Amino acid sequence: MRHLLALPIFLLLAGPVQSADLFAKGDAKAGKALHDKSCISCHKSMLGGDGSAMYSRMERKIKTPQKLQAQISGCNSNAGAGWFPEDELHVGAYLNQQYYKFK
Ligand code: HEC
Repeated sequence: MRHLLALPIFLLLAGPVQSADLFAKGDAKAGKALHDKSCISCHKSMLGGDGSAMYSRMERKIKTPQKLQAQISGCNSNAGAGWFPEDELHVGAYLNQQYYKFK
């Protein structure tokens, strides 16, 4: 639940960039490695499989690149992954390329 409460704060901090250009500097390959290391356990225990259903579930909450960015930051701090902003960009690039496909 902490997760849900933290989200609006991250959204406020997410800034004005309006498109998936947000992730233009991200490296999707590096992002996959980071993601697979730190991000699967919770999603998997919630949803089963390899956890990727989190990103493709019908009721998924993420509808804009900004929200994706914010959620990655939020999960990063929840997970204690200790990523730098550029790591979040890499993961954003990966998740966008693989699942969200924002333009
Ligand atoms: C401590 C458990 C936990 C860890 C670790 C975790 N997440 Fe999450 N994640 C969640 C929960 C819970 C949700 C669902 C939140 C909701 O329904 O609003 C979620 C949802 C998401 C979503 C939104 C899915 C959607 O479209 O609805 C993204 C993106 C995401 N996580 C990315 C990450 C990334 C990137 C990492 C690695 C840093 C990560 N998560 C690690 C618990 C976790």
